[in-house]
Amino acid sequence: MFSLGILTVSTGGYHGRREDASGRVIRELLAPPQYEARRYEIVPDERGAIEDRFRTWADDDGLDLVVSTGGTGFGPQDVTPEACRAVIHREAPGLPEAMRLRTLEKTPMAMLSRSVAGIRGNTLIVTLPGSPKAVRECLEVIIPVLPHALELLRDTAGGRHPHP
Ligand code: MTE
Repeated sequence: MFSLGILTVSTGGYHGRREDASGRVIRELLAPPQYEARRYEIVPDERGAIEDRFRTWADDDGLDLVVSTGGTGFGPQDVTPEACRAVIHREAPGLPEAMRLRTLEKTPMAMLSRSVAGIRGNTLIVTLPGSPKAVRECLEVIIPVLPHALELLRDTAGGRHPHP
């Protein structure tokens, strides 16, 4: 079982102006028995608020995985990638590379996500685009490799987990 934090980045959602369908898709696709959602929050498109949740959920709560949705586009308010980069210790470029490459087959709009992923301590942070459709498409690409990635992060002694 991996502990999960779901962070929806949406100023409209924060103010209750729209329902959080994207957070629901994350919860549906990363579900028990493999994942347990221990934290869930909606924050506005503000770097400080996003960074704060990433840091707290990694350092204080020790979550295995934090997945955010929203704020990865080209709009001036879209700051989730910058917030993620500010808190991670090591980047994990293969995940967003694969998400963009594989989902480009479905929509050219995949090019418009500046999504990044990285590691803070033993926590993997992945930033997904905002629409429920994008969340589903992108998660479907990375879900097959997530358990192995998360096992490796837990593995302080190194090398105890054979590659699947
Ligand atoms: N990726 C996939 N797989 N499917 C999508 O529908 N939408 C795109 C893109 N990534 C999309 C996608 C669109 S339209 C935008 S604007 C960017 O993600 C950024 O979205 P965000 O600002 O809500 O994070």
